[in-house]
Amino acid sequence: MHTKPLGITVSRHILDNQHLHPEATGELSSLLIELIVAAKTIAAEVNRAGLADILGQAGKTNVQGEDVQKLDEYANSLIKRRMSRCGYLCVMASEEEADIIPVTEGYEGKYTLAFDPLDGSSNIDVNVSIGTIFSIHRRRSVNGQGEETDLLQPGRNQVAAGYIIYGSSTMLVFTTGQGVDGFTLDPTVGEFYLSHPDITMPERAKYFSVNEGNTIYWDDRVRRYIDYLKAENRPTGRPLSGRYIGSLVADFHRNLISGGIFLYPSDRKNPAKPRGKLRLLYEAAPLAFIAEQAGGRAITDDGRDILDIEPEELHQRVPLIIGSKAAVDVAARFMAGEEPEA
Ligand code: AHG
Ligand code: MN
Ligand code: MN
Repeated sequence: MHTKPLGITVSRHILDNQHLHPEATGELSSLLIELIVAAKTIAAEVNRAGLADILGQAGKTNVQGEDVQKLDEYANSLIKRRMSRCGYLCVMASEEEADIIPVTEGYEGKYTLAFDPLDGSSNIDVNVSIGTIFSIHRRRSVNGQGEETDLLQPGRNQVAAGYIIYGSSTMLVFTTGQGVDGFTLDPTVGEFYLSHPDITMPERAKYFSVNEGNTIYWDDRVRRYIDYLKAENRPTGRPLSGRYIGSLVADFHRNLISGGIFLYPSDRKNPAKPRGKLRLLYEAAPLAFIAEQAGGRAITDDGRDILDIEPEELHQRVPLIIGSKAAVDVAARFMAGEEPEA
């Protein structure tokens, strides 16, 4: 069996694993390697974020008199700029942009990229983990510039998805459909090394992550499920411990490594957003692909698999329940109106 040696660089790992995809031409590998360069640049900027007051704040100029961008705008324009002429994409979409993002003419390739440049924006200014999420599909159109329909594909069609978490260390976690691997950035040399090969999500959840401030806006099924998680029942591991960061990437990452369930159900808080808060293309679908590849599960609050949803629009929102398989299975029963006895 092919082993994944701890400590190899992410580029080496990507090239070594190309043989798992017999049809591979190397373009997806090159695309990922290019994206990782963008991620490292964002990581470096995130680490300097606390110096905003000294170096300048968004909308102002820094001590050198240069314009300073907000970190999420910075991440967005950096990914756009770098990926637009990488030669492997035909179109992109970003959570920060209303419309599709064309690539530089003459550089069109066969993949699409959807991304959340900086997830957890409310945590940027308070030194709490944030992240970048990406999702890659093969185009549907044949050549030239890609179209919106190239991006509006179900998560099941993803060829790769991943995230970079800017936390106590910077980590890259991704899948190309052959399991999930995690890499840790050594900032002194600017290289990601394989630190978490073949990540599997613990089947049972230790943590639940939900914004309980929304309790009064939830429907009964969600309220009852959260009450169930908090009720004492030692044989089924309850009560669970509560952990909610408010950065999806960070909440998901903790649950991926330690076992847990994250919920952002639809609620009555904003009737204009009946489908929850999180976005299908930039947040839910890529994390659902990772969860499934790691043995977990991701559903909406009507029990459908996130990966099976056919997107209708770029910025579509979706209720999300994601995490350890056993916990999501029980959540699915609650959402269907059934309740386990214990
Ligand atoms: P973003 O910063 O990309 O807009 O995403 C924020 C999201 C997600 O990261 C997090 O899980 C959720 O918003 C938190 O929402 P609440 O503050 O409503 O709990
Ligand atoms: Mn986000
Ligand atoms: Mn964002």
